[in-house]
Amino acid sequence: MAKLVLKHLLAIRWFHWVNFPILFLMIWSGLLIYWAYPIYHLGPIQLFPQWLFAMFGMKFRLAEGMALHFVFMWLFIVNGILYVAYTLFSGEWRYLVPTSRSAFRDAWHVFLHDLHLRKEMPPQEKYNAAQQIAYTGIVVMGVGSLITGLAIYKPAQLAWLATLCGGYESARVIHFVLTMGYIGFFLIHVAQVILAGWNNFRGMVIGYELVRDGEEQ
Ligand code: HEM
Repeated sequence: MAKLVLKHLLAIRWFHWVNFPILFLMIWSGLLIYWAYPIYHLGPIQLFPQWLFAMFGMKFRLAEGMALHFVFMWLFIVNGILYVAYTLFSGEWRYLVPTSRSAFRDAWHVFLHDLHLRKEMPPQEKYNAAQQIAYTGIVVMGVGSLITGLAIYKPAQLAWLATLCGGYESARVIHFVLTMGYIGFFLIHVAQVILAGWNNFRGMVIGYELVRDGEEQ
């Protein structure tokens, strides 16, 4: 026998799916801005060469990028604050924050399990330790983007914030690295969702997962 079990609360699903297009627009508009002064590289490799901007039609769109970035940042912030507040008040944070002392060891075991190098999964509740670290990490990254973003948005008025980030240049580097981090998170997250399968994905859409007898956690 199989039954539907509530996994994700309605509000959480809203915050999650609203965040997705906003974050996409923030990264897109951020790159439109970055085009105007694309200085970062890894050794000899230019991170975003001109041909890449040209390929996606992203050249000469600085003003548009700034306009989009500075509008959608408010939605990103409000949605993020509401999400964190809701997880705190609803108690959902207990499933999300890696509170176990063995969280990092468990996450490593999850990683080995995913690579088929380990048979058993560590015991878990709603999320495994790797998910807990990733989901908590992404919220901390969001706070980091907010702080460094404000520091480079108003470096004169918020000079103290820029100083806190190690100066304007350093705030800009951190802001950029965090953006690359979102792209990395996104690729791994979506790959994991595909591996976890339809039931898991549908759970984040309708809230319920189909659970067979004996599968309950
Ligand atoms: C196509 C894009 C995405 C898909 C298909 C997707 C899918 C999912 C699914 C299915 C879950 C539930 C996992 C489970 O029950 O084990 C989940 C949870 C989560 N996802 Fe995504 N996601 C996407 C984009 C994002 C993005 C862009 C972020 C943030 C940068 C994000 C952050 C999270 C977080 C924090 C959770 C935990 C939510 C909670 O329970 O409070 N996701 N996602």
